[in-house]
Amino acid sequence: MRTLNVALGDRGYPIHIGRGLLGDPSLILPFLRTPRVAIVTNDVVGPLYLDRLQAGLRDLGVQVHAVTLPDGEAHKDWPTLNLIFDMLLAERCERSTTLLALGGGVVGDMTGFAAATYQRGVPFIQIPTTLLSQVDSSVGGKTAINHPLGKNMIGAFYQPKLVLADTGTLDTLPARELAAGLAEVIKYGLIRDPVFFEWLESNIERLVAREPEALAFAIERSCANKAEVVAADETEQGERALLNLGHTFGHAIETGMGYGAWLHGEAVAAGTMMAAELSCRLGWIGTDDVARIEALHRRAGLPVHGPRLGAARYLELMAHDKKVEAGRLRLILLRGIGRAVIHADATHTAIAAAIEARCA
Ligand code: NAD
Ligand code: GLY
Repeated sequence: MRTLNVALGDRGYPIHIGRGLLGDPSLILPFLRTPRVAIVTNDVVGPLYLDRLQAGLRDLGVQVHAVTLPDGEAHKDWPTLNLIFDMLLAERCERSTTLLALGGGVVGDMTGFAAATYQRGVPFIQIPTTLLSQVDSSVGGKTAINHPLGKNMIGAFYQPKLVLADTGTLDTLPARELAAGLAEVIKYGLIRDPVFFEWLESNIERLVAREPEALAFAIERSCANKAEVVAADETEQGERALLNLGHTFGHAIETGMGYGAWLHGEAVAAGTMMAAELSCRLGWIGTDDVARIEALHRRAGLPVHGPRLGAARYLELMAHDKKVEAGRLRLILLRGIGRAVIHADATHTAIAAAIEARCA
């Protein structure tokens, strides 16, 4: 097992990464305020891993409650969130009960938001089971649900007490979901870690083939990057916005196509290509850089073009982005591979041209 730390003072926490960690609930025990937990999972992950987690905790004398949500991005909404509160209230869970998020980013984001708001805040632990959630969403305390008009529009910053990433759970992950996670892995290389980008260029097929050593390295390196950024800028006053490379375009794809039609990572991949295209048109990166970024995404099995929604529709959807300030769109663009910047001065004409060039 490898352990990293998110350095946020009294809100800091460890990230444990390793194979088989789900079978060792004694890792969870020190982080419980009382021996009582409420596990939130979904109807895909629950049948695979809930029994193992529940049994291990009960063996250690922990009282366990559980709720199983319907699977999918389309259910990252108020009615589904309420199922968590229904269970917590029906079981008379107290402020000291710890919520455990067992699943991918959807379960993690929803459980975190429930934890932030149930009785004005209860502790929670992330147990991510997708590559995307192990490298990104379980770390950093962004929690949210979607609104029909915009992705992740209702939420809170609320840090977990522990992240427990069992890389063995990736064995059952569908290939398309693994690829979606690789989009966020590539993102770290692009925004701040050019050495990691080069490592990915040499090793992407090993990740697609789920070689344990390669996966462990990529997860740890991704989490290390994320932990550094979050420690420096927890509530996204500056640098943390760079983690949103490709996301403003990508969120428009997810909302515009209907939640769940495009996976989050797929939308981020196409959005990253749009950001690269715009950076190139501004003269900040070369066509050779764009070609490198495109080749890596393709080899990871990711889309390199967005759907043809029309540039006007993209811009309309992008106007809901959380990075909009005084009505101005702030985009994350590239000054080089490994060097992302926040840019607020791109004209709508330039953005629209980059979008059109990257739609198919
Ligand atoms: P997801 O949670 O929908 O999981 C993907 C699919 O894989 C689901 O069908 C899920 O049930 C299934 N699954 C999960 N673990 C599995 C396993 N081990 N074996 C087999 N199937 C498994 O999607 P995701 O890609 O994990 O997360 C995407 C979500 O994360 C989006 O809602 C996105 O907005 C959010 N996100 C949040 C942050 C953040 O900082 N909070 C960062 C990035 C993404
Ligand atoms: N996924 C973007 C962030 O955590 O800030």
